[in-house]
Amino acid sequence: MPNDKTKSDLEKDSSKTDPTSAKPGILGPVSRRSFLSTFGAAGLVATTQPLLAAAQGSSLDDAPAAPEGTVPLTLRVNGTDHKLNLDPRTTLLDCLRENLALPGTKKGCDHGQCGACTVHIDGRRVNSCLSFAVMHQGQEITTIEGLGTPEHLHPMQAAFVEHDGYQCGYCTSGQIMSAVALLKENCGPSDEDVQHGMYGNICRCGAYPNIIAAVQQVRRQA
Ligand code: FES
Ligand code: FES
Repeated sequence: MPNDKTKSDLEKDSSKTDPTSAKPGILGPVSRRSFLSTFGAAGLVATTQPLLAAAQGSSLDDAPAAPEGTVPLTLRVNGTDHKLNLDPRTTLLDCLRENLALPGTKKGCDHGQCGACTVHIDGRRVNSCLSFAVMHQGQEITTIEGLGTPEHLHPMQAAFVEHDGYQCGYCTSGQIMSAVALLKENCGPSDEDVQHGMYGNICRCGAYPNIIAAVQQVRRQA
């Protein structure tokens, strides 16, 4: 029959594809040359990447890729640098509370209306719910945790305690952060001036008279 080939005929046919090819086996029709060029290139990449990284003064382990959808950034909070990978849409408030475990800054409205989330950025008061964390690289962020400690209260914290400037306490960290920054601003001397300057900090418990008394005491002490 015309299609019947002997074993020796088949071996001759396969060797025609490439005079350098090995006998047909697990590599099928892949030639020795293409095998060596393919796997040789892969080996070259594998061996040169660590060398390149070493030449650049870093190791591959030093620069892990940020998870998809995040950006790497460093935030300086209460005097400590924190390296983070964050979704760029993360608010500073959520970053502080959920990524840095600093729950002293409170989430009230999450819309810039209550002041419970007030922190300092380079000494100025900011509603952290209205600001993205990625906007604050290179700045000094201060939260209520960085203002004083239970053993060494900031004068404003001590005045709030002395004047009962709180009831439930939910607004208090924002009130204190706002009051500390207020006294560095151009605020008039009267109680009405302080009331006006603290306008963005809501207290649902209505502790306003005591809050103003505390702020005025700190001002007199200063
Ligand atoms: S939580 Fe930011 S202003 Fe209310
Ligand atoms: S102390 Fe309760 S909201 Fe201000």
